[in-house]
Amino acid sequence: MSTHSEIKRVTTNTLQSMKQNSEKISMLTAYDYSMARIFDDAGIDVLLVGDSASNVMAGHETTLPITLDQMIYHAQSVVRAAKRCLIVVDMPFGSYQGNSKEALNSSIRIMKEAGAHAIKLEGGEEVADSIKRIISAGVPVMGHLGLTPQSIYKFGTYTVRAKEEEEAEMLLHNARVLEESGCFAIVLEKIPAALGKEVAEMVKIPVIGIGAGMHVDGQVLVMHDMLGITRNFSPRFLRRYLNLYDDIKDATARFISDVKSKDFPNEKEQY
Ligand code: KIV
Repeated sequence: MSTHSEIKRVTTNTLQSMKQNSEKISMLTAYDYSMARIFDDAGIDVLLVGDSASNVMAGHETTLPITLDQMIYHAQSVVRAAKRCLIVVDMPFGSYQGNSKEALNSSIRIMKEAGAHAIKLEGGEEVADSIKRIISAGVPVMGHLGLTPQSIYKFGTYTVRAKEEEEAEMLLHNARVLEESGCFAIVLEKIPAALGKEVAEMVKIPVIGIGAGMHVDGQVLVMHDMLGITRNFSPRFLRRYLNLYDDIKDATARFISDVKSKDFPNEKEQY
């Protein structure tokens, strides 16, 4: 009989070895116990408790409204479920931009109260001091460059980032800064594939892409997109593996119909 303690955990070192061995890293977002359990059982390498919870769980238009307390609640549920994968938790907007002490305190809350393994935050040089301070306290940090949704009001649009040379150069610079600051990995969101390749070849740490092409070291998708729960969202980078919106709607309609027609419950479905 196997116990949880016999399961070999994915760690930041595992991800580093995967890059060295050219083994691609799989990452999905998760926000609750039941889904995290399925993803972990399926063998996912990393679960990201993304601040996209603000969109897909809470129904906000952007990631900005979600709070640190709410992120910790989601993270606690995921941590209770996942026994094998590495669990990374997003630092929400407003929990780290003020100064490095605020950033450190927020990261400590996530680690202590949720039992997460690492945190992720958005930005480059402007958050380097915070990253160093968080890492000096023993907390692994994943960076996030390219389309950084917490800055959506600065960008004004969700279109592909760093298509122009100046922004691409800045992104390359920031990737170097994140590596030098001690990040164990970087997420690159919605940038040209050629730039994703350049970053992945330039830095020694794993680069995980979402809309950053095929040459990076791993891929991440938001679970609701991957499972086809979200609708009216079809960026080129998204591959849907199920069409759960329609399946769940059909199942719900059948349940309603069975109740109304008195077909459910039948003789065998009662005490
Ligand atoms: O919050 C999130 O889901 C993310 C992914 C898009 C990487 O940051």
